[in-house]
Amino acid sequence: MRVVVLTGAGVSAESGLATFRDAGGLWEGHDPMVVATPESFAAEPELVQRFYDERRAALARVEPNPAHRALARLEETLGDDLLLVTQNVDDLHERAGSRRVVHVHGRLRAAWCTACDARHGWTGTLLDLPPCPGCGASRLRPDVVWFGEVPYDMDRIEGALVDCDLFVSIGTSGVVYPAAGFVQYALACGAETLELNLDASAGSSFFHDSRQGTATELVPTWVEDLLSA
Ligand code: APR
Repeated sequence: MRVVVLTGAGVSAESGLATFRDAGGLWEGHDPMVVATPESFAAEPELVQRFYDERRAALARVEPNPAHRALARLEETLGDDLLLVTQNVDDLHERAGSRRVVHVHGRLRAAWCTACDARHGWTGTLLDLPPCPGCGASRLRPDVVWFGEVPYDMDRIEGALVDCDLFVSIGTSGVVYPAAGFVQYALACGAETLELNLDASAGSSFFHDSRQGTATELVPTWVEDLLSA
């Protein structure tokens, strides 16, 4: 069975990372058009860098949860038949042991040099304008896909959606495209579709099966059921 799993902020919520649109979410305290666009970075680079430096520091204080670990177990069994696509910029899937992870919105623990175009693993800050390890220019930005920018690895994702037998969406509100459209794409290509989410999402009607609950409850149960089927 070929499976594509899409995760969103909800899968990391129980690790202690804020989601975006829930009560107390990141977009309640920050206007995304002020901290997450190339235009805002050009206008207010310090404000944007500080926002992501704080999120990178918060990431160092949290650990993967049972949902992340269950998906890593699933990969151990399915191998190349599983593609894990995440909208999250955290590295909790990898820290739980997942290897085949596509970060469609980029990664918080990476810096992108806009002078030489290189990407570098990054756990520190960028507000102090550190030099690029490659070219030495102080032109590093978070390697995160901002609103209005092109998401990463779309060809690989579309290829997997065309071929998958099962599409599973975990912890996402289904309002941000292109990720919010993956379910319709998989459905049109004949896949079974399953949603695991705390609340109904904007795309719930596109799922053959939509289950509400926390990721740490629903995901391990679903993985055990799939692996014992
Ligand atoms: N378990 C399962 N689902 C949860 C949990 C939990 N513990 N906590 C919250 N959720 C669900 C919420 O019900 C909501 O549907 O996770 C979803 C989180 O939605 P958003 O905050 O909108 O996050 P997400 O869908 O990942 O956002 C998509 O928007 O802001 C941009 O680039 C950013 O990648 C992000 C994209």
